[in-house]
Amino acid sequence: MYSTILTEEKNGLLKITINRPEKLNALNDVVLAELKMMMESMKNDASIKGALITGAGEKSFVAGADIGGFLQVDETQGAALAAHGQSIFSMIENSSKPIMAAVNGFALGGGCELAMACHFRYASEQAKFGQPEINLGIIPGYGGTQRLTRLIGKGRAMECMMRGDMIDALEAYRIGLVNKVIPHDQLIAEAEATMQLIIAKPQPALGALISATNAAEKGTNLGYETEAQSFGLAFASENMREGVTAFLEKRKPNFK
Ligand code: COA
Repeated sequence: MYSTILTEEKNGLLKITINRPEKLNALNDVVLAELKMMMESMKNDASIKGALITGAGEKSFVAGADIGGFLQVDETQGAALAAHGQSIFSMIENSSKPIMAAVNGFALGGGCELAMACHFRYASEQAKFGQPEINLGIIPGYGGTQRLTRLIGKGRAMECMMRGDMIDALEAYRIGLVNKVIPHDQLIAEAEATMQLIIAKPQPALGALISATNAAEKGTNLGYETEAQSFGLAFASENMREGVTAFLEKRKPNFK
């Protein structure tokens, strides 16, 4: 039924694996559409009590939005792309059933944003996190400017997004981006065991605590709207063309 996502159900826990390992599980339109369908079907399926999201292969959770199509995106489409990604990640954040990210490798750009949209995160010792959009002449667009700031604080979030480099799992743990770091080969088993423990709790109370906790950080939608508009604006820039072309040509960008 899904072409870019694998699912496996065990005792009410759904394991969702983003499955494009040849592109390090980058999020293209199909992955986003399938994630959306998955969230809708999970909501309506009483037999599913919670989920964990991970990435296929040994190397990557999700290495970001798919850069491959970026050169065809203009300002309006960029803003729409960000709003679309934001809305799907909000479905994850606002799911009344608990969802954790089991980060097994690169969680970059949209991958870090996907992990942050989950209710909490465990990481393998091999995981690497970052918001490298600045290196392409763009900015995070799937909620990263908002959720990273809330999770690790404004100063650290600014530095992370401005530097655009990667941090390892232990540093991610130190700054509160992940809850726990686990040996790589034990990540999924420990994530599943934790989620089984959680989904055995009373479901209405879990749903209530998710919505109450999310409400603690709800202001207006202004932050997300500004992010989407700024994301779009970046797609009108020469620097974006240079940054994305340089990535696709596997060379260093020459920004103006
Ligand atoms: N979008 C599209 N394709 C991507 C991708 C992305 N975000 N991230 C990786 N890929 C592709 C690569 O182009 C490559 O494809 P190819 O084999 O057809 O050339 C394949 O995945 C493997 O990646 P590669 O770069 O060869 O692996 P690596 O181990 O040398 O480097 C990364 C890994 C994660 C450091 C590097 O892939 C990278 O920087 N990716 C982009 C991260 C990013 O900027 N994300 C934010 C996007 S907004």
